[in-house]
This record gives sequence, C-alpha cells and structure tokens, in this order.
Amino acid sequence: MILGICGSPRKQATEYVLQRALSQLEEAGFETEFFTVRGKTIGPCRHCDYCLREKRCLVEDDMYPLYSLLKEAEGIVIATPVYNGGVSAQIKAIMDRCRALGAEDYDALRGKVGMGIAVGGDRAGGQEPALLQIHTFYILNGVIPVSGGSFGANLGACFWSRDTAEGVKEDPYGFRSLDKTLKMFMKFLEKTG
Ligand SMILES: Cc1cc2nc3c(=O)[nH]c(=O)nc-3n(C[C@H](O)[C@H](O)[C@H](O)COP(=O)(O)O)c2cc1C
Repeated sequence: MILGICGSPRKQATEYVLQRALSQLEEAGFETEFFTVRGKTIGPCRHCDYCLREKRCLVEDDMYPLYSLLKEAEGIVIATPVYNGGVSAQIKAIMDRCRALGAEDYDALRGKVGMGIAVGGDRAGGQEPALLQIHTFYILNGVIPVSGGSFGANLGACFWSRDTAEGVKEDPYGFRSLDKTLKMFMKFLEKTG
C-alpha cells in the first residue's frame, strides 16, 4: 500500500495534486490510502520521553490512525504546502511524532520508499527547501528518498499554485515534475517490493 499524506488544512492545491498522484499510482496497479491533516488534531511532540519508556505516544490524537497506516505502507508520499519556505506545521508535527514509531520499533520505516510534493503560492517560494526537509526526515528514518531526477524534477514534485487549486492546474511544469518523480518512485517500489 502507498500512503499519501496531505499537509494542508484546506481542500485546495496540495490535496488536488496529491489525489492526482494517488490516481496515477492506482492506475499503475498500486493500492493507495489518502490521509489528510484537514479537520484532524495532531499535536506537536512534547518531548516527554513517554514513548521511549512505554513504546507508544502519550498524546492520543489523530496521529494514532496515521501510525498504523505508516507501519503498513510500502511507500510514502508526503505532500506539503510551502509555509515560510518549508513544510507546514502540520507536516512537521507528524514528522516529530514519528519519534514514537522509532521508539516502538527502530526499523519501523526502514526500507520503505518515499517521495515528496511541495506546493507554494509563489513560483520560487521555498518548494525545494520544503522537499529537502521531507528527504531529511526520510533519511533519518531509513526511508529511501526518491526524486524525479535532473531535467525537471530535481528534488521531487514542485508546484506553483498561485494560492488556489485552480491556480495549480495551470502549472504544466509542476505536473511534469510530478510525472517524473512518480515514474522513479514506482521504479524503486518495484525494486524493493
Ligand atoms: C502561513 C503561510 C505561509 C506561507 N508561506 C509561503 C512561502 O513561504 N512560500 C510560498 O510560496 N507560499 C507560501 N504560502 C502560500 C501557500 O504555500 C499556498 O497558498 C499553497 O497553495 C497552500 O496550499 P493549499 O492550497 O493546498 O492550502 C504560505 C501560506 C501560509 C498560510
């Protein structure tokens, strides 16, 4: 199963692009699951170290269903809106809360394949720094980080939304970067699966 995580609190550009990516994966024969932070409560990590002692997170919020999905997934697609040149606070909270996954099982995410999608309101608003944050999370957790390669998708899928779902549909270079990244992502999934 491939898990798509949408880090926008809105049903707008990031969700539109992620749903497109998941449809393409489905068309290629992969089973997918969609998870959005929209309408959910996922608090930040409290660094209480409860997880290190008890092997589970003390904060029993909407991170719990996501823990199960993350464990089950063979591939992860993190899609984030660009906020202040990086990932959204919601995506950062998810990344930090994965400390509890690692406390329960050090290899919980190891060997899975991961890609990123960054959607910014500006053409050059920090999409690549946001993708680097996603790739850093993958590297730290043993997830194989996948880009779309040079000539169009250097660090992954980068979109210019002009702040709306309608705007993102007008970004052909964004969809080109998505197609290239998905192609590489599927290649890795086939190799590891
Ligand atoms: C708090 C906040 C910070 C933002 N910072 C940036 C930014 O640094 N660079 C950028 O290109 N867009 C920035 N934006 C715009 C969003 O990335 C853009 O509207 C994006 O399409 C939001 O995704 P969504 O449409 O899926 O909600 C910011 C938006 C918000 C709410």
